[in-house]
Amino acid sequence: MSGEITVRPASADELPAILAIENASFTCPWSEESFREAFEAENIAIYVAQRDGVLVGFSCLLAIGEEAEILNIASSPTVRRSGVGQALLSRMIGEAAAKGVTELYLEVRDSNAAARSLYRKNGFTEIGIRRHYYIKPREDAILMKKTLVPADKGLL
Ligand SMILES: CC(C)(COP(=O)(O)OP(=O)(O)OC[C@H]1O[C@@H](n2cnc3c(N)ncnc32)[C@H](O)[C@@H]1OP(=O)(O)O)[C@@H](O)C(=O)NCCC(=O)NCCS
Repeated sequence: MSGEITVRPASADELPAILAIENASFTCPWSEESFREAFEAENIAIYVAQRDGVLVGFSCLLAIGEEAEILNIASSPTVRRSGVGQALLSRMIGEAAAKGVTELYLEVRDSNAAARSLYRKNGFTEIGIRRHYYIKPREDAILMKKTLVPADKGLL
């Protein structure tokens, strides 16, 4: 699998493929019901990444006014470290900037070195800790923030 990565808004019939990646990626995955609610929510955008016709990742962005939060992002375990996570994150940053968002937030497990590296590389800084935020296993969340500027629209 080596073709170009494309990112586009997800459609609800892609839920089984999204759920498969979610279940392979998290110890405490979102339920099908949570994804259905996300698809129906007006302020949540769900994106999928595709390569060679295969759905290889997804992400969820909640945007309210000038603030937004990355709710979820995962790439298929078989394609990791090949640019899928970066493509999804770039799309969310671009979309958020285009909507006029100036502050983009996320939470990440303390031990999640891969994701923390991805976020740092994209200009997120660590602004706080939420103690014992996660379960399975119980762990702190690191709260990260990126200030968006109009030029971030260029990532679209
Ligand atoms: C975090 C995640 C989405 C990254 O996706 P990916 O498709 O592997 O990301 P990319 O290939 O685009 O990597 C981009 C950057 O992320 C960082 N990164 C990704 N995997 C890494 C790893 N195993 N170790 C260290 N850094 C890593 C690097 O900075 C990398 O850039 P580089 O390859 O130039 O060094 C993926 O590991 C994943 O799905 N993890 C499980 C779900 C998860 O933890 N989501 C985040 C919740 S907050």
